[in-house]
Order: sequence, then structure tokens, then C-alpha cells
Amino acid sequence: MALVKLEINGKRVIADNSRTILQVARDNGICDIPTLCHDEQLEPFASCFLCVVKVKGARTLVPACSTKVAAGMVVETDTPEVRRSRKAALELLGVPVGPPRRPIRPLNDAQRQRLRAVLRQVGKDV
Ligand code: FES
Repeated sequence: MALVKLEINGKRVIADNSRTILQVARDNGICDIPTLCHDEQLEPFASCFLCVVKVKGARTLVPACSTKVAAGMVVETDTPEVRRSRKAALELLGVPVGPPRRPIRPLNDAQRQRLRAVLRQVGKDV
């Protein structure tokens, strides 16, 4: 474990390199990365890809919940590419992101609340 300097949304931060981008972002008040499969109690398994972020120099978007920070990393959490990818991830999960449709099966209150929170984060221009 070592402290590294990186940048998230233009904000310079110092973090332990054993932490993930998601953890470091949240530690620094950057809370616009939506998650579905992430749970602090579990090892990250990166299955929903809702938390993707752009890392300068990376070939693809990376899941923030399972990608460790590194020295010199430059991260952007809200770009048009990131928003498109999150929207596509939601669609693959079967979550309606377009005009309202009748739900296939009713959601309980907790599910509805969680989905609303995710859609608020992802659905800015959906
Ligand atoms: S929250 Fe699901 S892949 Fe990161």
C-alpha cells in the first residue's frame, strides 16, 4: 500500500493505492458514480457496469467499483461517452430508460427507491 496522487474530475487527490476509484471519489465528495451491483460488504465483482468512468489513456471505460487507483491517473466520471455507456448498461439489464412503459412485474418500495436513485444519476439526458 502506498499513497498516490491522481485527478478525478479535475480535482487533485491523494489516496491509498489499495482503494478503488469509486471509494476514492466518494471519499473526496465526488458522488455522481451510480452503482447497482456494488456493496461495500462484498468483494467487487463488476457485473452491472453502471459505474464506468473514463481513465485517460485506457482503451475502454473502466468499472470504478473494481479498478484500483494508480499514480498519475486522470479520471472523468461524467462525460457523454460515460453517460451513453451507463444508459446502455441499464438497457441491457432490462431497465426502461426511455418513455415510461408498464412494468413487467411491480417493484417493491426499496427496489423502486433504488432504481429512482440510479435513474437520477444516469438519466440526466436519458
Ligand atoms: S457497480 Fe456494478 S460494475 Fe461497478
